[in-house]
Amino acid sequence: MTTLELSLGARSYPIVIGEGIVESQLRERLEAYRQAHRPIAVVTSPALFGLYRGLFKSLDEIASVIYVTSVDGEGAKSTAELVNLWETLAQAHIDRSGVLLAIGGGVVGDLGGFAAATFLRGIDFVQVPTTLLAMVDSSVGGKTAVNLAEGKNLVGAFYQPKAVIADLDFLKTLPAGEFAAGMGEVVKYGLLGDARLFETLEETNADSLAPIVRRCCEIKAAIVAADERETAGDGGRALLNLGHTFGHAIEKVAGYGSYLHGEAVAVGLMGAARLSEQLGFVPDKSVSPRVEALLAKYKLPSRLRKALPVEALAAAMASDKKVSAGTLKFVLLRSLGNAFTTRDVPAETVKNIWRELGACD
Ligand SMILES: NC(=O)c1ccc[n+]([C@@H]2O[C@H](COP(=O)([O-])OP(=O)(O)OC[C@H]3O[C@@H](n4cnc5c(N)ncnc54)[C@H](O)[C@@H]3O)[C@@H](O)[C@H]2O)c1
Repeated sequence: MTTLELSLGARSYPIVIGEGIVESQLRERLEAYRQAHRPIAVVTSPALFGLYRGLFKSLDEIASVIYVTSVDGEGAKSTAELVNLWETLAQAHIDRSGVLLAIGGGVVGDLGGFAAATFLRGIDFVQVPTTLLAMVDSSVGGKTAVNLAEGKNLVGAFYQPKAVIADLDFLKTLPAGEFAAGMGEVVKYGLLGDARLFETLEETNADSLAPIVRRCCEIKAAIVAADERETAGDGGRALLNLGHTFGHAIEKVAGYGSYLHGEAVAVGLMGAARLSEQLGFVPDKSVSPRVEALLAKYKLPSRLRKALPVEALAAAMASDKKVSAGTLKFVLLRSLGNAFTTRDVPAETVKNIWRELGACD
């Protein structure tokens, strides 16, 4: 077991990573809450509730309520689900001393985190990520949100958890495609901040996952500690969006659900690497072939699976949440492990990159 800290002054919290740790970690924390007469609520997804009956049975003995979302996946990040969750917390008499435990992937973490941020103007919450993506990315850093019909993550809050408990044993039941999608985010961390991590992913089969998850969390924790609310003019938290501007456009134009988020990000990483090369920021011409090979190794796409129209992709990019004052901030590379942000990218060059990624006119 290994623990690192996300340093945010009084809002600092531990990120505990290990195998087979969830029961003991939760027992310890929940016992302390119970002794302090603090009511506990749990939120999870139907898939996890079905797979981990023993865990939820033991939690049932200690929690005031276990809320299981009505659906699995992105559909559970809806305002309707949020209202149901709020009402369930109220009916279970969760008071301001209450603690909400979010056990699940990024969807449950984002929904539960936003419910915790807003219920009674904020109650404590603990993240127990169960997908690789949630362990290396969504459970750390305090971004919480639900979706609107108009777009993903349009309503949310920055609200840090009290702890993150990442038990790698959960990954044993994770479908292979979801695991691969999580690896997309892992590759992202290597590309944006740690060439050595990128090389480790090239040289091994990532079979020793704990140090990899730890390294990703370290990188994210350092970035978030320095720029919690993504207000830095250059660099900062926006660096974590490497590949995402392309990725979000793919998800939107292909239709949500056609690509897993991590798969769309993988194509986006390829796009960012090629764009960086074309604009002359990356002198080393081996970077994009290495990105392509690494994505293939972890069963991730580096091109669109089916051609999508360039104009629609460009329009989707222009309406990205990250547009401010009419311009889009791109995250580009200088080399493997070294990313930066810029707004100075010609639209035609981006369209050419889309064509290289398999888009059509
Ligand atoms: N808050 C952030 O900083 C942040 C960062 C990245 C992504 N996100 C959000 O995360 C979400 C995606 O998260 P995700 O990829 O974890 O998807 P997810 O939460 O939908 O989980 C994927 C699927 O796997 C199932 N599942 C989860 N854990 C399992 C396990 N251990 N065994 C078997 N099945 C399991 C889930 O029920 C679901 O059906 C998106 O909504 C995205 O916007 C948030």
